[in-house]
Amino acid sequence: MHPSIPAAWLAFPYPLTTLPPLPPLIPRNPRMSALFSPIKLRGLTLKNRLVVSPMCQYSADDGVATDWHFTHINNLALSGAAMFCIEATHVEAIGRITPGCLGLYSDAAEAALKQILTSVRKHSSTAIAMQLAHAGRKASSARPWDGGQLIPVSEGGWQTVAPSALPHKDGEAAPLALDAAGLKRIRDAFVDCAKRAARLGIDAIELHGAHGYLLHQFLSPLSNKRTDEYGGSLQNRMRFPLEVYDAVRAVFPHDKPVGMRVSSTDWVEGGWDLAQTIEFSNALKARGVDWIDASSGGVSPLQKITLGPGYQVQFAEAIKRETGLPTIAVGLITEGKHAEEIVASGKADMVALARGMLYDPRWGWHAAAELGGEVEAPPQYWRSQPSTQKALFGKTTFGAR
Ligand SMILES: Cc1cc2nc3c(=O)[nH]c(=O)nc-3n(C[C@H](O)[C@H](O)[C@H](O)COP(=O)(O)O)c2cc1C
Repeated sequence: MHPSIPAAWLAFPYPLTTLPPLPPLIPRNPRMSALFSPIKLRGLTLKNRLVVSPMCQYSADDGVATDWHFTHINNLALSGAAMFCIEATHVEAIGRITPGCLGLYSDAAEAALKQILTSVRKHSSTAIAMQLAHAGRKASSARPWDGGQLIPVSEGGWQTVAPSALPHKDGEAAPLALDAAGLKRIRDAFVDCAKRAARLGIDAIELHGAHGYLLHQFLSPLSNKRTDEYGGSLQNRMRFPLEVYDAVRAVFPHDKPVGMRVSSTDWVEGGWDLAQTIEFSNALKARGVDWIDASSGGVSPLQKITLGPGYQVQFAEAIKRETGLPTIAVGLITEGKHAEEIVASGKADMVALARGMLYDPRWGWHAAAELGGEVEAPPQYWRSQPSTQKALFGKTTFGAR
């Protein structure tokens, strides 16, 4: 017998008037997908739990988005994911990872993104998040396809800044340790960009606290050797990232969410680890953070990462369990059923994909078809709906004569 059918219903003949109320069928429907169920983050309701992970495109001019961004963002805003996160968007020019990285530190950068977002909004209701970032000592790097190495000042690079004057790799030119004025400048730059993002109608901000960039450089004892109130104890190392969070939260509209991407571990003995990540997440929770996006690594070339499908899901799960915060699982999640299992089993609230989305820009459609979910598609593409998937795009009608 189906577990949701009350036994009284099967006792025939029965008096119709005394039938017990119909049990809720929806939660028991095996075709009901957890991945394609909605989630509310402050005033933002996402139609599903799938996110396009931020991905640098190394294709901006002095931080200003180009026609490549127009193509890229419009394309992936139609992926079926309920939220697309714009790549690491740098808050000052010397905070860019590469000379081609996106920024939001100028009127020109804001104007270019405005044009692109106007186009995106015409054809997609996907929420658009933006990752605000500063690369610290990992700035002034060549684009990945040009080798990704530090560009010396003599070859068009720039002097980088960091918590401490320690290079990322042995033998590289050292960054300048930030003084009080430098910290204020960068905090203010995050605030300016958050205000610009709000003006652009960005739906959510993710702060980049991962991958060995500036905020992570403050958190990790491997890169932060300061002896003032920003270094030493965990409380002190968390201070600057928390100040940046507070400053951004204060100027971004209250009903819009702000999340944080973390490196859950440095994968180096004696470095930043999951226990400290949980402390940091709890401090953010007290300040109202809306999600923790659980990535890992990036602060040290000595990292030893054990890679495999969903290798970082364990971090999203532990952070969620220990803090009660919504988490995003990311990293080598490529199969719809895997993403579904992560959300359905409560390991994370959302799943983000990066490379899988570049490879298959309709990944969300294909996962929805497989899992019994529904995605939004523009009417121009409705006729692509497979004949076996009549509900994939919701209620659609198509006529001709
Ligand atoms: C081309 C590319 C660019 C990336 N840029 C960013 C970025 O801007 N910010 C960030 O936090 N992670 C960035 N990442 C990491 C991804 O967001 C993601 O965490 C990682 O690729 C693991 O997910 P995946 O296995 O689905 O690709 C980038 C990854 C790729 C492949």
